[in-house]
Amino acid sequence: MKAWAICNQKGGVGKTTTTVTLGGLLAAEGRRVLLVDLDPHGSLTSYFGRSPDAMDGSVYTLFERAAGGVHVPLASMLARTRFNGLYLLPASTALVSLDRQFGARDGMGLVLAHAFRQWGQQFDHVLMDCSPTLGMLMVNALAASDRVIVPVQTDFLALKGLERLMHTLAMIERSRGRPFAVTVVPTMYDSRTRAAEEGLQNLHARYPAQLWQGVIPIDTRFRNASRAGIPISHFAPRSARGLQAYAALLESLRMADGEMPAYATAAPRS
Ligand SMILES: Nc1ncnc2c1ncn2[C@@H]1O[C@H](COP(=O)(O)OP(=O)(O)OP(=O)(O)O)[C@@H](O)[C@H]1O
Ligand SMILES: [Mg+2]
Repeated sequence: MKAWAICNQKGGVGKTTTTVTLGGLLAAEGRRVLLVDLDPHGSLTSYFGRSPDAMDGSVYTLFERAAGGVHVPLASMLARTRFNGLYLLPASTALVSLDRQFGARDGMGLVLAHAFRQWGQQFDHVLMDCSPTLGMLMVNALAASDRVIVPVQTDFLALKGLERLMHTLAMIERSRGRPFAVTVVPTMYDSRTRAAEEGLQNLHARYPAQLWQGVIPIDTRFRNASRAGIPISHFAPRSARGLQAYAALLESLRMADGEMPAYATAAPRS
């Protein structure tokens, strides 16, 4: 099982879109994918038609029970989506009080890591959609992740949010004693604007090793797919620009993880 955390301390940069799109692409290939909603706003949960106002059967239950030393079976939290191979661990708006309720307890930073150790093997991929707030949920996501994917909007404010996140990663790296594999993904790129071009150049200059070489373009189909509650992989034609860009990102993430490209793992024709 591979666990990817999709994080940025800046809001509205494409975290949820990246989670849904990479998850949809992987599921369309026949992989078993778990999407975990770690944002109290529950955008990912709502995307798949569930209400984040429900208290039970959510990430909140997992943390609440863990604080009481109780193991929660995965089946009691898992929501099936309409899409083959795509499962959801929903958020609850109750997550907003998590730090206040349980922040002082020992071991609460490793709840997700322990949970994935117990039942992660049922999935090929776990994708965690983080909230922009640095707190117990983001710390858990980072501790449980093999790779951190950082969507960054290519405007001139992008670098500011990114620097904050890189600082957070460096702090956590010191305590976990192992560096993070980080991929910075320029999103909502509009080639017609000077700000986008300059933002991209700044990213190249500042984070040459972490920056993915492609860009995710502005594509209105993301919003339409979101409105329909369907991952763009299952919504738009294969030729859709945004979808193609995410497919290229997925290939490059696999290469970075040392996996074979998808076309090389397909069964050979006889
Ligand atoms: N490449 C794109 N082109 C056009 N619209 C996009 C693109 N990526 C995302 N969007 C739209 O931008 C909005 C914000 O994206 P998204 O919800 O994925 O960001 P987020 O980082 O998860 O936000 P938040 O911090 O609020 O959770 C959504 O309406 C989404 O449909
Ligand atoms: Mg989001």
